[in-house]
Amino acid sequence: MATVDDVRIIDLPKILDARGNLSFAENQNQIPFEIKRTYWIYDVPGGESRGGHAFRKNEEVVIALSGAFDVVVDDGKNKKTFNLNRSYYGLYIPKGLWREMENFSTNSFALEFGSVAYSEADYVREYEDFLKLKRNGEV
Ligand code: TYD
Repeated sequence: MATVDDVRIIDLPKILDARGNLSFAENQNQIPFEIKRTYWIYDVPGGESRGGHAFRKNEEVVIALSGAFDVVVDDGKNKKTFNLNRSYYGLYIPKGLWREMENFSTNSFALEFGSVAYSEADYVREYEDFLKLKRNGEV
């Protein structure tokens, strides 16, 4: 069962160049799972938050491609906040953790890789349900 201590920053490669820098991420290499889905979040109005839910199976890597935001992860006992503010940091979030994204800077752009295709059945959207599933060792 994942805890907030299993969440980690992956330092992605950076190819520094006077013409502009380049970073990359490959399936099952820098990304520690097979990528089945990519999605992105943008145009977030000031003060809004996203992603208040847990996934039963989906693992993720979140990158602040532009700007900055906080990702708050929660295992039902402890919380940790990661401030993503570099386009070469990937935040790895295992399955079974509650996560929220907040404090988006203007024009920030969040890229996310997931290990399973979109399925509403994979979401736990009520925090009380999450706590119950966590207590029973079901997520
Ligand atoms: P949701 O995951 O709840 O957004 P967030 O975690 O950022 O708050 O998704 C919002 C809506 O978009 C929801 O109706 C489902 C839909 N959606 C897809 O159809 N495919 C996807 O890959 C994702 C991530 C969301």
